Amino acid sequence: MVSMLDPKIRMQQLIAQIEQANFDYYIQDNPKLSDAAYDELMKALLALEHRYPEWISANSPSKRIGGDVASGFKAVAHHRPMQSLDNAFSEDDLQNFVTRCADKLGHGFDMICEPKLDGLAVSLTYQHGQLTQALTRGDGSMGEDITQNVKTIRSIPLALRGSTPAWLVVRGEVFIQKNDFEKLNNKLKQQGEKTFANPRNAAAGSLRQHDSRITSKRPLSFYAYWCDAPSEHMNTKLSDNMKQLKRWGIPVNQLITHGQQVTDVMKFIDQLQRKRQHLSYEIDGAVIKVDDLKSHDTLGTTSKAPRWAIAYKFPAETAHATLLSVEVQVGRLGTVTPVAMIEPTFVGGVTIQYITLHNYSEINRKGLSLGDEVAIRRAGDVIPEIVSVIKKHPEASTQAHAIIPPRVCPSCATTLKQSGDFILYCPAGERCPAQLVGQIQHFASRKAMNIDGLGIRIIELLVNRNMLGNVTDLYRLSSEQLVGLPRLGVKSANNLLMAIEQSKQRSWPRVLYALGIKEVGMATANTLASAYPSWQQLSEASEDNLMALNDVGPSIAASVRTFFSDTNNQLRLQQLNDFGVTMTMAVIKSDQSNPLKGLKIVLTGKFTTSRDQITQRLINLGATLSGSVSAKTDLVIFGDAAGSKLKKAQSLGIKCLPSSDLDQWVAQLST
Ligand code: IVH
Repeated sequence: MVSMLDPKIRMQQLIAQIEQANFDYYIQDNPKLSDAAYDELMKALLALEHRYPEWISANSPSKRIGGDVASGFKAVAHHRPMQSLDNAFSEDDLQNFVTRCADKLGHGFDMICEPKLDGLAVSLTYQHGQLTQALTRGDGSMGEDITQNVKTIRSIPLALRGSTPAWLVVRGEVFIQKNDFEKLNNKLKQQGEKTFANPRNAAAGSLRQHDSRITSKRPLSFYAYWCDAPSEHMNTKLSDNMKQLKRWGIPVNQLITHGQQVTDVMKFIDQLQRKRQHLSYEIDGAVIKVDDLKSHDTLGTTSKAPRWAIAYKFPAETAHATLLSVEVQVGRLGTVTPVAMIEPTFVGGVTIQYITLHNYSEINRKGLSLGDEVAIRRAGDVIPEIVSVIKKHPEASTQAHAIIPPRVCPSCATTLKQSGDFILYCPAGERCPAQLVGQIQHFASRKAMNIDGLGIRIIELLVNRNMLGNVTDLYRLSSEQLVGLPRLGVKSANNLLMAIEQSKQRSWPRVLYALGIKEVGMATANTLASAYPSWQQLSEASEDNLMALNDVGPSIAASVRTFFSDTNNQLRLQQLNDFGVTMTMAVIKSDQSNPLKGLKIVLTGKFTTSRDQITQRLINLGATLSGSVSAKTDLVIFGDAAGSKLKKAQSLGIKCLPSSDLDQWVAQLST
């Protein structure tokens, strides 16, 4: 009888039954338990875990429900860089890929073809059969630790089946099925929450939740597409490794097919394109890979992608829509952009209503009139565009259907000026409310002054009420002025004032970027600030001197000069200074300033440079050094004659880097 059993054994039995049910359902596609029976097992396990918390296993299926709330995701180094794929858009591109591989290998080769899922790449680590870590791609070298969230995905086994290797790294795509996406959005809508634009965003947004209980309620799926383990557990072909993954209980796409010639691959792609709309998940192409794993080593990788694989991207999806009207937007630098409004149309995975037309010569070039039926196109994350007119409106040539460029600024009524290729702009600068709103929005943005809580709605409100006439006015705002404005209670007003106060600590490069000078992005701001460590120095620099800097050409130099020759701008900087904005040249706090932050590193063996020097350098980059290897170690850097520490790290699946590769690795992280 169940109740007579030792509760610990009963818990293990329940876990085994639940895992078997998951395997039958997700891997074998052959459910053997009813939902109710499954729920009963889960309930029984939860009850026992509640009673005997000391026996809860780290990988109990109860982890599927989530529970841990993370304040941020820890950055962790990948076992091997997590790369992207090169793209092919035609049969010729594929032929080039095959020829390149064959030339390098010196012989023909088998390929595998599979759907390219439109989701989010993750890397899973299993140690001795237990799921111990899940990382996002991040920047390719370091990923974000989303282990607790990934453990809630039902189709990802928490423990592998059968005989398991000491370590296994599995890479694949987390995605959301089309019907699950519809259901999720309906539920969010009912709850009055923001819905997702497409399944990809839904998958990414769900995985990056700080509260894993929320992720556990999101219907996420997973397919593996690559793995690595100690060689005795791996096969010579990628396709056999995929079969092995299935045996361990990890889901793999069933549509994987073999091919030898480009014609085979094209046949697969044609069939896949025809199947596309009937598949239960979104795909945006096919991935073609060399099957033989030794050939992967021979072919190697570029800095961005492996040379043994290529993504064939389906052509951008197009749709037809009627052009209803053209609205006019004024950007922070005064540029006037016509924006087409169409009836909401679903294309490339999202519903589109507005499409930028860039400038009025594009409207002329495309011959657009109001009421025309137009072809629109959108692929992946690409900005949607109007491709061409499909059918002119019968009265297209009448005045009522003409798209007439405005003469005056829609925001401040100043007469517009024209430059270059029919590009209109409003010369009013910060006196134009639309430009002012844009400037303040840029000033407050994350990479600039990072003023939390200062969103577009509040900025518009403050500008409309004449409380902000330029960016420096932010530092004049008081609690009395803010409290009582729509959406601003005492607490949020004070939080906003605190965020504004904190922004005074931003470094000089960030302030320079925040000023929004034309053509001065973050990288240029860093270059300029390093050469001219104060605003007074930069304001006096000549165009010639500016052009002597790396990556500063005539047009950036002219733009910087124009900015500083305006006495108003000099005054603003003086005012920022007087308000206590420090503008120090300290460390540039970009996201890359501490590329090794949070990494636990162990050094082992003999090094050509002094160990102290290496240690100091790693600490400066944000790493923590430790003397011994444990499961918590992120990276081992080894020199000559490395012994037991290196062996231990390898057996734990920890990334091991020869010291000779250190420079290159750090450079890769910092770019
Ligand atoms: S193979 C080292 N196979 O597409 C392995 N990638 O645009 C390289 N993707 O980064 C990836 N489906 O996140 C591979 N069947 C598939 C895929 C796939 C989707 C993603 C993956 C990759 C991105 C590149």
